[in-house]
Amino acid sequence: MWEELILAALKARENAYAPYSHYQVGAAVLTADGAVFTGCNVENASYGATCCAERTAVFQAVSAGKRKWKAVAIAGGMEGEDPSDYAYPCGICRQVLSEFGGPDLTVIVAKSPDDYREYSLGELLPSSFGGDSIK
Ligand code: THU
Repeated sequence: MWEELILAALKARENAYAPYSHYQVGAAVLTADGAVFTGCNVENASYGATCCAERTAVFQAVSAGKRKWKAVAIAGGMEGEDPSDYAYPCGICRQVLSEFGGPDLTVIVAKSPDDYREYSLGELLPSSFGGDSIK
């Protein structure tokens, strides 16, 4: 069911810029109207300036005016290898996803189109802090 989105994440992973960690990640956001936006991790010699793949994809979607999403697929693994494990989004990326995705957003962590796990963002980020908390 998620083959196309996972393939998009794997393809985006090919552009990962990860000369320091050598851990390459790709992500693909599926919007409510069926568009797909992708991103990869972009590292920096000043490590804290690194941007994760998920946030790169999120910022692409939002920059194109797409704020309603169905799902995000993530694939990560060491340079030169296919993903050997599921790449779960880091805490910062879960928080950024929650800004637009909400608890029903489907989060897919994939090794391949045939080998993946599926969650809701609410499962991965329960009791989240959001815009409603500061109204
Ligand atoms: N990374 C991501 O792209 N997404 C995550 O959710 C976790 C970590 C990247 C950041 C860094 O370039 C590399 O993986 C190692 O931490």
